[in-house]
Amino acid sequence: MSLGFKCIDIGLDKLEEAAAIHAASYPADHVSGSMGHDLIVEYYSGFLTGKNFFLGCVSEDSITELMGVVVFGKGMPLNITEFKSKNRSKLIKFFLSNPRVFFRFLLKRFAGYIQKSDRFDEAENIILSIVVRENVVGAGSFLMGLVDDYCATNNVCKLGLYVSCSNVRALNFYYKTGFKVRAFVSGQYYMEKNFRVSE
Ligand SMILES: CC(C)(COP(=O)(O)OP(=O)(O)OC[C@H]1O[C@@H](n2cnc3c(N)ncnc32)[C@H](O)[C@@H]1OP(=O)(O)O)[C@@H](O)C(=O)NCCC(=O)NCCS
Repeated sequence: MSLGFKCIDIGLDKLEEAAAIHAASYPADHVSGSMGHDLIVEYYSGFLTGKNFFLGCVSEDSITELMGVVVFGKGMPLNITEFKSKNRSKLIKFFLSNPRVFFRFLLKRFAGYIQKSDRFDEAENIILSIVVRENVVGAGSFLMGLVDDYCATNNVCKLGLYVSCSNVRALNFYYKTGFKVRAFVSGQYYMEKNFRVSE
């Protein structure tokens, strides 16, 4: 299904839908994608306020059905730390009831310790999550266009993101939208896109 899209701000009323898209579309080996609906809602709720942006898109002819979302901006590490400390017991429960996910998570952590990670300066602005409804074509490019417009009009000189080395679909997407691999960190690539800033 290929459509034209419109941008919307994501608020409380759209969190459940955003979480459902996240759970259905993220690859099965992705921790946040397997966390379960309630924890994903909790995870995303931390990005409704603060220094970041939480945008979504709907098709031009439907004002209701969400097609995809993107979370980007500043302050991501702090939000994630808060999410982890607020939901420690739920996360432990989740890992205990999903030993495969837990094992993969531990393996990644372990690989991070033994593999040599590259040194790099992380961009201040990061894309934390970009995800689209299954079988919808073009929504990812539309959302990335919104992020690009923000960066270009707000003098953002570089934008970063992390992507699992096994997420071929996302890697293709990021190459296509102008990102380059800058570093390898614990089974993930850190990718970056540069923007021209006006003096
Ligand atoms: C990554 C993602 C947001 C891209 O959105 P999208 O709507 O599929 O992307 P578009 O339809 O705009 O396609 C843009 C480009 O992405 C790449 N791409 C999209 N789907 C692909 C697929 N199934 N396989 C390989 N490459 C693909 C192609 O390069 C495509 O360009 P082309 O159509 O000219 O070949 C989407 O695939 C997604 O939600 N993935 C699951 C969540 C995820 O992994 N997010 C990234 C986490 S780091």
